[in-house]
Amino acid sequence: MASMIPMKEFADRRRKLMDRMAPDSIAILPAAPERVRNRDVLHPFRQDSDFQYLTGFGEPEAVLVLIPGREHGETVLFCKERNPEKELWDGFLVGPEGAIERYGLDDAFPIGDIDDILPGMIEGRSRVYYPLGKDPVFDNRVMDWVKVIRSKVRAGAHPPGELVALEHLLHDMRLYKSAAEVKVMARAGKISAEAHCRAMKRARKGGYEYNLEAELIHTFMEHGARSTAYPSIVGGGANGCILHYIENSAPLKEGDLVLIDAGCELDCYASDITRTFPVSGKFSPEQKALYNVVLDAQYAAIDAVRRGNHWNHPHEAALNVLTQGLIDLGLLSGSLDDAIASEAYKPFFMHRTGHWLGLDVHDVGDYKVGDAWRQLEPGMALTVEPGLYIAPDNENVEEKWRGIGIRIEDDVVVTKDGCRVLTDAVPKTVADIEALMAD
Ligand code: GLY
Ligand code: MN
Ligand code: MN
Repeated sequence: MASMIPMKEFADRRRKLMDRMAPDSIAILPAAPERVRNRDVLHPFRQDSDFQYLTGFGEPEAVLVLIPGREHGETVLFCKERNPEKELWDGFLVGPEGAIERYGLDDAFPIGDIDDILPGMIEGRSRVYYPLGKDPVFDNRVMDWVKVIRSKVRAGAHPPGELVALEHLLHDMRLYKSAAEVKVMARAGKISAEAHCRAMKRARKGGYEYNLEAELIHTFMEHGARSTAYPSIVGGGANGCILHYIENSAPLKEGDLVLIDAGCELDCYASDITRTFPVSGKFSPEQKALYNVVLDAQYAAIDAVRRGNHWNHPHEAALNVLTQGLIDLGLLSGSLDDAIASEAYKPFFMHRTGHWLGLDVHDVGDYKVGDAWRQLEPGMALTVEPGLYIAPDNENVEEKWRGIGIRIEDDVVVTKDGCRVLTDAVPKTVADIEALMAD
């Protein structure tokens, strides 16, 4: 399926990457491999995010090669050849000619010819960029191509002197989302928000966690988002305190909260939303008190997402509100400063307030530059997801608090004058959630 990102943007990205590469260098990037699930059944294919970013080409068994300054074309794709018999079983293949016509590559060859052609392209280039150390099989293939050139030095061949990780250049580019990328991410956020609304409306005691997971998948699929961005988390009651709970098989109980952390993937872009709501449609006083602390922390963190602030500002803002809330409710004692300095909040809030978001749910990009937190700049996309988790066996707190797990998560993009929340179509105040569930 064609990408929602215009083809010209992929060409611009390749150009930009080549402009950042050292003179006399070459970049080699493989597509994701297909993975066997069992015997003849494969896992659904998901393109490698870096490969997707530079090509939009959705097939396995392909290799992109960027050769700045090459006379016969700087961007080259090796891919599967068209094959009517194979296509009858497995569907349409683009083929090398199609890669040039439809994907805007300068040159393309059958993947079966790569061992004959690629060493000649590497020869004379002093530096090779590739995903160094990511896949031992591909590491070995690169070494094999280099060895072919080394075997010919006495005939005057020039093997490359440096093998360098491609990620440093590419992942910094991926951190800044274009208008077209934000548009896809906003659409993914909207679909996921609708899915959360549907799950909230259909929650009932006696149902199972997987019933709500089914509601999420229904809405994702209905809108053409054929995959989740990560396994959905649907945790009723104390299961909401297990951060990566994906069993999703327990019954939902009257009086419990249910925490849903789920987002669809659309055109390879992730969305990532968490909402926590009462199975019965009504929060208990304790649930409401803790919920409002998390919500205030999330508002404070979102408010801190603006240019001029650094990566850790939203986390610090959330941490202050969460810790003060725990003190006010009697779950922690002492002063705010002491509780933060001693990390007394850690048993209740043990994760970060967010992560970069993009083609990967935990997207690429450095969080620090040297020793300093990275400054937030327009186009950076991130999640804001504070939480409080009162372990069911925490004997340091009154029993009424135990087993309550709450997280509230939205996706935001830094703009010129603040940030844009991409996932605000799903309610998050106590009043709005209760109203939606009563509807
Ligand atoms: N769902 C993964 C995360 O929130 O980071
Ligand atoms: Mn997240
Ligand atoms: Mn999440």
